Amino acid sequence: MVNVMNVLKNYGNKKVIDHVSVKIPKGKITAFIGPNGAGKSTLLSIISRLEFSDEGDVYIDGEAVSRADNKELAKKISILKQSNHMNIRLTVRELVAFGRFPYSQGRLNKEDERLIDEAIAYLGLEEYGDQYLGQLSGGQRQRAYIAMVLAQNTEYILLDEPLNNLDMKHSVQIMKVLRELADELGKTILIVIHDINFASVYSDYIVAMKNGKIVKQGKTEEIIRPSVLKEIYDMDIHIQNYCQNKICFTIDKVTGVPQDNLPAYLKKYKISKYENVGSTSNRILIKSAKSTLI
Ligand SMILES: Nc1ncnc2c1ncn2[C@@H]1O[C@H](COP(=O)(O)OP(=O)(O)O)[C@@H](O)[C@H]1O
Ligand SMILES: [Mg+2]
Repeated sequence: MVNVMNVLKNYGNKKVIDHVSVKIPKGKITAFIGPNGAGKSTLLSIISRLEFSDEGDVYIDGEAVSRADNKELAKKISILKQSNHMNIRLTVRELVAFGRFPYSQGRLNKEDERLIDEAIAYLGLEEYGDQYLGQLSGGQRQRAYIAMVLAQNTEYILLDEPLNNLDMKHSVQIMKVLRELADELGKTILIVIHDINFASVYSDYIVAMKNGKIVKQGKTEEIIRPSVLKEIYDMDIHIQNYCQNKICFTIDKVTGVPQDNLPAYLKKYKISKYENVGSTSNRILIKSAKSTLI
């Protein structure tokens, strides 16, 4: 379990994390949602000790991260930061091999090679192994970074907006991989995500942040409710059960589509009458709901 206890972080005289306490259960996917500047990235950085808190501490399986041994911590927790600006000349395979550094210190053994191959295959990057990062599309590069984190093979995996740059197909692919890692290997995944429907469909728990504080936390089904989403986003968000998933959407004020017959309306209006929620169009949201069934 990750236990964040009373963490405070200031940048200058701004409280970026304001006495946050949260317990994140093991073996589950916890999604962090909330507007830009809420403090999500800072909190993940403190949990993984890329940053130190000014007050409070984070405990992982009972051990304070501030006092953990560097090498041991790197075997326990991995993080993919929001933006990766490594512009060096590296192939995909060389990048993914970095994930093994806490174990190999640069000298890869058979087990390291196996985990590198596995991570590359998991992300569908087999044919790009020898290509340089600079030769890849943004989405392919993003998948290579995720493969590096998987190769690190830690119990705790922190991903800050890993779906950035990814198209629909690869976003679904990543979320399915994360579900497998949690369900089959018992990994604990913390993910910052802007698409509320990806959080709804794939996460077990949601932590909603605003202004350095946690506004709501709970099981996904307790958060994906109109009243709770109104508190978080200050918007009227409607929810439909669709293929056993809860899909959030807003309704076009002009057409005033009733809520109880969404699929029929989607057909009739070809989805286009619906407004966007977050950064994703409803066309994509519905596709994402469908793709989970494939
Ligand atoms: N290194 C830094 N120096 C100064 N201010 C920072 C730094 N990193 C983040 N901040 C500020 O902290 C606040 C929270 O940022 P961040 O954790 O990145 O939010 P989020 O990930 O939710 O968008 C923002 O106001 C941001 O400008
Ligand atoms: Mg961020």
